[in-house]
Amino acid sequence: MRKTRAGVSLRLTIIARDPRSRPCESGARKSGVHLSSAAIETPSRRDFLYIATGAVAAVGVGSVVWPLVDQMNPDASTLALASIEVDLSAVAEGQILTVKWRGGPVFVRHRTKKEIDDAVNTPLSELKDPQTDAERVKKPEWLIVSGVCTHLGCVPLGHDGPYDGWKCPCHGSIYDTSGRIRQGPAPLNLFVPEYSFLSDTKVKIG
Ligand code: FES
Repeated sequence: MRKTRAGVSLRLTIIARDPRSRPCESGARKSGVHLSSAAIETPSRRDFLYIATGAVAAVGVGSVVWPLVDQMNPDASTLALASIEVDLSAVAEGQILTVKWRGGPVFVRHRTKKEIDDAVNTPLSELKDPQTDAERVKKPEWLIVSGVCTHLGCVPLGHDGPYDGWKCPCHGSIYDTSGRIRQGPAPLNLFVPEYSFLSDTKVKIG
């Protein structure tokens, strides 16, 4: 399907074409990542969405690496057009929803007041890749970032590490509650994708 009324249907076609070909997804299945129907409406949504709350820790250490070369495949130009709509109503405060977008994971984190305060009150002088929290969010309670470690592409684990942000299981990079790199070999903050809020409970990524 090349024509789409909304980016969602186009993307679903792409995702449904090769879900078993990605080693990272295989690793996620082996490690027990829970598939959920909570995020967007589509007949095959369980194939590519999962809620990563406490269950995110079940992802095997070092076993989930999203292929950074994915963007180089022939579908790149098509993928660049794809977008998804995510229902936020099922994500409770303190939870992290992980959705798949353009072949990789995106974290949608419903931050608590403490998580917001910790991110806002961090001096820029402490940051390897200085960015204020306000530069990285559109609404303080919602942090939306790529789930790909900026070191070598592993998927960091949520609610882990000394800043209660994310910890990468591969080489120990630590991210804070704004997804900013704080320790370890990763050079950059978790990437903030293009997104917009369609309502209080729905966000469009891409
Ligand atoms: S891939 Fe994350 S620290 Fe190396």
